[in-house]
Amino acid sequence: MPELFSAVDVIAAKRDGGRLGDAQIDWVIDAYTRGVVAEEQMSALAMAIFWRGLERGELERWTAAMINSGERLDFSHLPRPTADKHSTGGVGDKITLPLAPLVASFGVIVPQLSGRGLGYTGGTLDKLESIPGWRASMGNDEMTAQLAAVGAVICQAGSGLAPADRKLYALRDVTATVNCLPLIASSIMSKKIAEGTGALVLDVKCGSGAFMQDFALARELAQAMVELGADHGVRTSALITDMATPLGLTAGNALEVRESVEVLAGGGPADVVELTLLLAREMLDSTADSVEAKGVPGAGIAPGSSAAAKLADELRLADPAANLANGKAMDLWRQMIAAQGGDPDAGLPWGKEAEVVVCDADGVLASLDALKVGIAAWRLGAGRARKEDPVQAGAGVVLHAKPGERVVKGQPLLTLHTDTPDRFDSAKDALAGAWSIGSEPMEKRSVILGRVG
Ligand code: URA
Repeated sequence: MPELFSAVDVIAAKRDGGRLGDAQIDWVIDAYTRGVVAEEQMSALAMAIFWRGLERGELERWTAAMINSGERLDFSHLPRPTADKHSTGGVGDKITLPLAPLVASFGVIVPQLSGRGLGYTGGTLDKLESIPGWRASMGNDEMTAQLAAVGAVICQAGSGLAPADRKLYALRDVTATVNCLPLIASSIMSKKIAEGTGALVLDVKCGSGAFMQDFALARELAQAMVELGADHGVRTSALITDMATPLGLTAGNALEVRESVEVLAGGGPADVVELTLLLAREMLDSTADSVEAKGVPGAGIAPGSSAAAKLADELRLADPAANLANGKAMDLWRQMIAAQGGDPDAGLPWGKEAEVVVCDADGVLASLDALKVGIAAWRLGAGRARKEDPVQAGAGVVLHAKPGERVVKGQPLLTLHTDTPDRFDSAKDALAGAWSIGSEPMEKRSVILGRVG
């Protein structure tokens, strides 16, 4: 059968600043997924979109076409409501690890389909794979069975979910078109909508270690994604959160799992606890809204019914801090890890070698740059340069102070961990100018910069 459009005409229309028609968008995504639109043609189109953007209606259609390129999961037969969160990615961002079991400990089903890290931002699956025996890959039936039995799963998204995005994301990665607002929004939301969650909370990072360094742009990205969620009946809200400095005191796979377990045990760094609790609150509230609007079909709860109102009230009154303190979130974590073959009691690996970087002055740590710490952790072996590269479970960076804290000359500021000590020098190069030390006390900053939704 002849093709409906010519790829060259579609590229030229966007190159010249035109609006793509619905049929053109549907065709180009489908033809690209089928291999009819060539990689070089899609890379030209991605670059045209990078410069010309997509209007609201085009973005909606582009996202829908990406969703339609593959399967859509459906958890509506499960007897409890579903919620998920997605972060646009940052340095030391391990929040999914304590958050998924915490929210599930209130009876919400959390299907958390995650990815691996590329470049300096870590990937949730790489972190969890540092737990001996833990398995990222599972089929849809196995995942659904775990959700029914345990209430939470963190696993690799199957290849059937938004395959157009899988191809396009790999292409963007090598054509300098990752950092493009409509392409980021459609990429994230196509996967999350296809995943079939009822409620979604986005953590849009802003700062040196994030895609968006500028608050206005981060807000625009959050707004676009919240609207795309609403278009598809997924109750979506977004927090815009600080990524000027790493989250918590660790960046690296096993290091971050250890810190997450501390949070689940009722301790952990203040910023990780704060963000975990705020995102949990947001997920519980969004789930409550979605229960009122859509009911819970698998439990026979109709939208607007008194049962829906009762469940929504329970979710709004739930206290996330209580389930960190009383061990319920930890119990769920242990079940979730064990269900995927992991041993929650096993010791986690450390890098074979460590080197300490010390403070060069007395005073108050004024800044510690997320991007530079992220690149150092990556160079130590915590991240990969190409998709097929292995990562080191024990590699990464431990912070001994956070911005705002007093430091003295000669005290340890960072400890670098790796299995391959020849990496220390390039990691230290990445840390040149990574921190500044002032003399004035600083006001404590919240990690939350804004909210949309
Ligand atoms: N994460 C995604 O899944 N897609 C993007 O484009 C950026 C971050």
